[in-house]
Formats: sequence, C-alpha cells, structure tokens
Amino acid sequence: MGLAIEFCGINFPNPFTLASSPATTTGEMIMRGFAAGWGGAVTKTIGPPGEHIANVSPRFAALHAGKKRMYGFENIELISDRTLEIWLEECRIIKDRYPDRVLIASIMAAGDAQADWQELTSRLQDAGCDMIECNLGCPHGMPERGMGAVCSQNPEITANITKWVTDVAKVPVIVKLSPNITDITLPALSARARGAAGVSAINTVNVLLGIDIETFSPLPTVAGKTAYGGYSGPAVRPIALKMISDIARKMPGFPLSASGGIAGWQSAIEFLLVGARNLQVCTAVMLHGFGVLKPMLRGLENYLERHGFTRPEQIVGLALTKIVEHSRLDPSYRPKALIDAINCVRCDMCYVACADAAYQAIEILHERFAPVSERRVPIVHLDRCTGCSLCAHVCPADSIAIKEVKES
Ligand SMILES: Cc1cc2nc3c(=O)[nH]c(=O)nc-3n(C[C@H](O)[C@H](O)[C@H](O)COP(=O)(O)O)c2cc1C
Repeated sequence: MGLAIEFCGINFPNPFTLASSPATTTGEMIMRGFAAGWGGAVTKTIGPPGEHIANVSPRFAALHAGKKRMYGFENIELISDRTLEIWLEECRIIKDRYPDRVLIASIMAAGDAQADWQELTSRLQDAGCDMIECNLGCPHGMPERGMGAVCSQNPEITANITKWVTDVAKVPVIVKLSPNITDITLPALSARARGAAGVSAINTVNVLLGIDIETFSPLPTVAGKTAYGGYSGPAVRPIALKMISDIARKMPGFPLSASGGIAGWQSAIEFLLVGARNLQVCTAVMLHGFGVLKPMLRGLENYLERHGFTRPEQIVGLALTKIVEHSRLDPSYRPKALIDAINCVRCDMCYVACADAAYQAIEILHERFAPVSERRVPIVHLDRCTGCSLCAHVCPADSIAIKEVKES
C-alpha cells in the first residue's frame, strides 16, 4: 500500500515530515532524514540576513514519568544560527539529491519587515525549496525581537506577513501558528484570507518547566537564571489535537500540517482523524533519531489495511463530526464501572479514589478465609456508580472497564 498524500498541491511520498528543529539544523541532517524515509522536511527556521543568533546552554529541560520516560520537553533554543547563504547552497544540494522529497524552508523576520520576508521567500524558492513555512509561532527569545509568536498572536500582523510572502512566492506558503492564544482560528482565517495554502500548528507552548527547590533556580538554568520556554512532546498533544480540530471544524478542507506530540503511529493517526494532511515530528526524533519513522510507517499502513482503507487521505477528518458542543452530549448515557476481579491487584486505589473524590460506589469486601494477598476484593455498587471513570484511570492493572450495563 502507498502512503503518498497531497498537501497544498504538492505530492508527499508519505505524510511524515521532519519539523523545523535541531534534527533539521543542517542540509546533511535533512538528507540523512530523507535517506531514512521521511516524506518531507522543514529546515530549522532561517532568519533575516544580519540577525545575530547565539544560543545559550543548557537550553533543554524535561518532565519525566518515572525514570527517564520523558513526556514533556522544554526548550529555549533560538532559530538557525547559520547564514542564508549557507542554507541556499545546502537547499540546492538537498533538492539535487532528493528531488522526490518535499523540502520546506522555514523563515522568520520581524512583523514589520516586509523586505526581509520577501527576500527570504524569493531566494529560498529560487534555491529549489518546494514550499515556504512562515514561522509565526516561536514563543521564546524571538518575540522579544518582534518575531515569532507575537506575529500570529495578532491576526492583523499574520495577514500582513502572509500577503507579503504570497505576493512574491511561486511555491505554496504555509503559516505556522502559536498555540499561545485564546482562539487559534483567528490567525488561521487571516492567513487563508491573504493567500496561505495552509497552516501548520502547533508551535511550542510557552511554559516554565520547573524550579530546583534547593538552589531556587528555574529550569533550564543558564548560570542561575532562565527564560520562559517552549513546551513540546506528548504532554502538548491534547492541546495540539484541540487546536488542529478547532481549525479543521471552522475551515473544512483547508490544508493542515500538524505538530505537537506525534510520537508513534497511533498519535499520527489521531492527527489525521482530526483533519491534518501532513504530520510534523520534532521531539520524538530528538529522543529516538530518524529511525523513529519506520514503526510509524508500518503502523499507519497496517491500520489503514485493517480498517479497509487504501490511502491515508481517506481517514483525514473522520473524527471531526464526533466533536460537538457539550450541550449536545447525551446525559442519559450512564455507563458503569466493571471490575475484573481476576486481574485486580488489590491495591485499593479505585476504592480510595471513589471514596474521596467520587461517589463512594466502591466497597472493599474482606474474604476472611482467602490467602492474605487475595483478601481485599473491590466491588461496585451499581446504584451509586455514576460511571465517571475515575477508578479506571487510577487502576494500575487496567482491570476496570467503563461500560453500559443492560438492565435484565
Ligand atoms: C529544541 C526545539 C527547537 C525548535 N526549533 C524550531 C524552529 O526553529 N522553528 C520552528 O518553527 N519550530 C521549532 N520548534 C518547534 C517544533 O517544530 C514543533 O512544532 C514543536 O516542537 C511541536 O512538535 P513536537 O511535540 O513533535 O516536538 C522547535 C522545537 C524544539 C523542541
């Protein structure tokens, strides 16, 4: 089965695209990504000629669930510190060696710098780039210079930049949006109105990852201090799914490129189902390398086959009609908690959660004559259970199902 998909009029061999990131820092890295099978790549964001970029260290911090199982990742990295001239040369080489892959130039300039936006666009498309992505979403460092997130937080600035770029572009232009905004559909509408072929979302979420409580130093600590950074990885996926589906529901059919926590074939499929046609991956590649693609390709292919589809585009947006106003949810639907006593590990966590934060519907039965390890059996009083599902979420053994119980 082929995984090719059209996005903004361009044919991608598969929807998986390296996001603008440390993994696309150089042309050599992008080519290694293409050799590993990635359908497209977005260059690390290229700034205007003369912009001085100096990164600080350390510039990453992470939240782990247990030992080194990272689910949230913060960075305070700036855009590319390499010159436009170097990028022009490398883009030519990449397109020469990989004409069938999609090379997207990520560009950034200030919100009032028409000439810079137009120069970057013209020169990078002349170097062979297939698309332009305007980075209006970086939440750290660059906004202090009038660039990045401040540009898509103001739909008027988004409109201006999109118009300047599309006025000179001969290739499709997409606009990358910040999630640090109340309604992401406003800049998306502005971008579409001024000629953008699509939008990509989300860039990183502005955060303060944590504080070292012994030294009082916020993380990541650069000689004792930090700046607010951008959050990515699985922790931001729910925000990205919400924002992609928001845009897809407001602007049906408008091409969307998703990023934000894509870490495997399942999360990739989630984004296709809420309306994305293109999938960008950053943090998962930083953690696992370009090879993280292989199981994603296989998983997507198997999934499509299992469900009787032949192309990824057949599943784009299929979940959207199931997202409705809260008032349209059925209040008479009353599933109940059903505990699988055989798999239950007798930890009492469901009992405690239900007693202290729900409806006191779970009771622990004491089997006096059973061995010690089997003595505490949780049972659900169905008349008191509201089916809220809290017990299922705290159960470490996945032994609780929330199901409709048919009255006999
Ligand atoms: C270290 C780091 C550097 C990044 N640099 C850029 C950049 O230069 N330009 C850009 O548009 N996005 C940049 N991003 C954002 C990613 O492209 C992506 O949109 C975001 O991280 C969410 O996807 P993920 O959860 O797969 O990482 C960067 C992200 C990280 C973690």
